[in-house]
Amino acid sequence: MELPPFKTKMVEPLTMRTRKEREGLIKKAGYNLFFINSADVMIDFLTDSGTGAMSENQWAALMQGDESYAGSSSFIRFKKAVQKVLGFPFVIPTHQGRGAESVFNTVLLNDGDSVTGNSPFDTTRAHIENRGSKIIDVTSGEAFSKKSLHGFKGNVNLKKLERVLIKNKTIRYVLLTITCNSVGGQPVSLENIRGVAKIAKKCSVPLFYDIARFAENSFFIKEREKRYRNWPISKIVLETMRHADGVLMSAKKDAIANMGGFIAMRDPLLYKKLAPQAILHEGFLNYGGMSGRDMETVAKGLYEGIEESYLRHRIEQARYLGESLHKAGVPVLRPIGGHAVYVNASEFLPHISWDRFPAHALAISLYIEGGIRGVEIGSLMEGRNPETGENRKARFELLRLAIPRRVYSREHFDYTIDVFKKIVKDKGRIKGMKFNYESPILRHFSSTFKLLS
Ligand code: F0G
Repeated sequence: MELPPFKTKMVEPLTMRTRKEREGLIKKAGYNLFFINSADVMIDFLTDSGTGAMSENQWAALMQGDESYAGSSSFIRFKKAVQKVLGFPFVIPTHQGRGAESVFNTVLLNDGDSVTGNSPFDTTRAHIENRGSKIIDVTSGEAFSKKSLHGFKGNVNLKKLERVLIKNKTIRYVLLTITCNSVGGQPVSLENIRGVAKIAKKCSVPLFYDIARFAENSFFIKEREKRYRNWPISKIVLETMRHADGVLMSAKKDAIANMGGFIAMRDPLLYKKLAPQAILHEGFLNYGGMSGRDMETVAKGLYEGIEESYLRHRIEQARYLGESLHKAGVPVLRPIGGHAVYVNASEFLPHISWDRFPAHALAISLYIEGGIRGVEIGSLMEGRNPETGENRKARFELLRLAIPRRVYSREHFDYTIDVFKKIVKDKGRIKGMKFNYESPILRHFSSTFKLLS
């Protein structure tokens, strides 16, 4: 067992609800977990984004927030942390990750352009498509194999990447998402990163990363790539970043802040091009939608996020939950990723067809049974084909249990495992779902459902 490298100073009480109360609450919420109040959730695995517990140093730094519009000392400290931890000289703050995506893609992409790389996150995809551009996904085949236990399932298929870059002249940049949230929080190896960088350079296409979970990726590199076993995480991070022209960051993840983001880069000309767009949408270049105190928490969190003892404990938490569920007969994507456990619901509930949303049905059962909230990542989230109006079938029907940073302890995970064990015994009774109201866009957030009888 990994000893948590922290202890609790302040507590946030959980409201204990009974099973009966939860049955009523979820019915009233139209069987949509986004309509459930957090006070009615006992363990919230909805996301690891902005939900982490800040340290005493972050809270102390927050009191030093300089809220000046221009030249704030909080910005100077924030920029210094980004430069030191990641090695990029130019930094544009944004209110969160998607703010960075919006500014970046508005400047880099136009109608008919393309982007290639491993599978981007939904908001990233939406921002690219919103510019009339398309994504050519070159994630390695391992990512989609249930059997493979490859240590770096977030890797790019290098041969495919090279083919795509040679054939396609509309590609404006290569984007590597590390770790790759869309394929189970799986890491990308440094060997693969080097390969990607070499090909991108040869084809004169710039390389950018989405580094929401760069620290977790670096931990996996240390753990799984022999060459780096004795390297400190800080050095692996810099070695990773060395190959990129720039990065987009949601500071709500590996910077353990509740809000924030940024774009960091090497090229002063790119900075000049992005700056006006950033001012227009995010705010002046010294705050970009963050308050001074937010920037202070990110500055501290960037250092805390790469502490090896913290990362080891965090990765072990996900692994403990995932491997215990696997042993209890719940199929999960393996190896377990960095920030979440992904339950394969179509394998767990083979009696529910994909268009009856097995992962959503499982999410509802998990809430009723134990007050635990996860999120469906499957055909419900995938939506309909805009041309044919047909439901799109996702590659996997997954229930994601994302783990907030420094929030839950072993008892919370043991409780979760016990709830799953109860569900395993009676899983045949879980029924599929159909729409009561289907929202036309991003339907998983705001649709309501009925249980099939
Ligand atoms: N990139 C990745 C890989 C992400 O996982 C997210 C958000 C973003 C970008 C967008 O950042 O939320 O700060 O605007 N992921 C969250 C999640 C929402 O639950 O996985 P944001």
